[in-house]
Amino acid sequence: MVSWYLCGKSGKMRILITAGGTREYIDPVRFISNASSGKMGHALVRAALKAGHKVTLITTIEKSKIKNQKSKLRIVTVDTASQMIEAVKKYFPRCDCLIMAAAVADYTPSNPSKTKIKKDSKILTIKLKAAPDIIRWAGNHKKKNQTVIGFAVEDKDVRRRAEKKLREKNLNMIVANTPDAIGADRACVQIKMPGCKWLKLPTASKTTIAKKIIAMVEKIKNF
Ligand code: CTP
Repeated sequence: MVSWYLCGKSGKMRILITAGGTREYIDPVRFISNASSGKMGHALVRAALKAGHKVTLITTIEKSKIKNQKSKLRIVTVDTASQMIEAVKKYFPRCDCLIMAAAVADYTPSNPSKTKIKKDSKILTIKLKAAPDIIRWAGNHKKKNQTVIGFAVEDKDVRRRAEKKLREKNLNMIVANTPDAIGADRACVQIKMPGCKWLKLPTASKTTIAKKIIAMVEKIKNF
């Protein structure tokens, strides 16, 4: 059930945003990652700050170009999915809303080498295990006044698959897009909240999409 409300007296929130692709190390110098640029997450941070909210950004992008406005923005830099979930677990209890824009690895090497792997054989097999599903953890642990928003990257059957994530991960909103949005400046997204119809936004810059998402976050609350 979704209702409209104004957050607190000031209407300002503490928003936790994740951004960028995680790196899953095979050995000390090699990792498995993805093409995420962190642009969507960082656009969300800018939009949230501009709207007067306090933001904690957990990002894998070291050279974030966001101005660190002392009292309003905290930046935590992480590398791996397991570091990201630790940071989320630390800051989630103190936030009103989590937006998981990060492209978190689904799998991580099960037995990373402590030393650089040598080119000893023609075939190298790397065993992977499931990485922590951060948003699932947040969805399972959220309090009734906390909002959890996820992204879904789907190459087909977009709405059905994204709705499955919305439901199964206990989210308050899912922003669905397609793989071509990864690393790009513009995207075409569709947004769904439980009990509401799909909202398809026109193709736009990530800055414009981020403003729209923050404006929607300001208005929703689940009871
Ligand atoms: N996510 C997460 N932890 C993971 C993987 C994804 O928190 N280990 C979050 C992403 O940040 C995103 C949402 O889950 O907000 C959906 O991510 P996506 O990659 O589309 O889906 P997955 O759940 O990983 O499922 P699949 O890759 O099978 O589509």
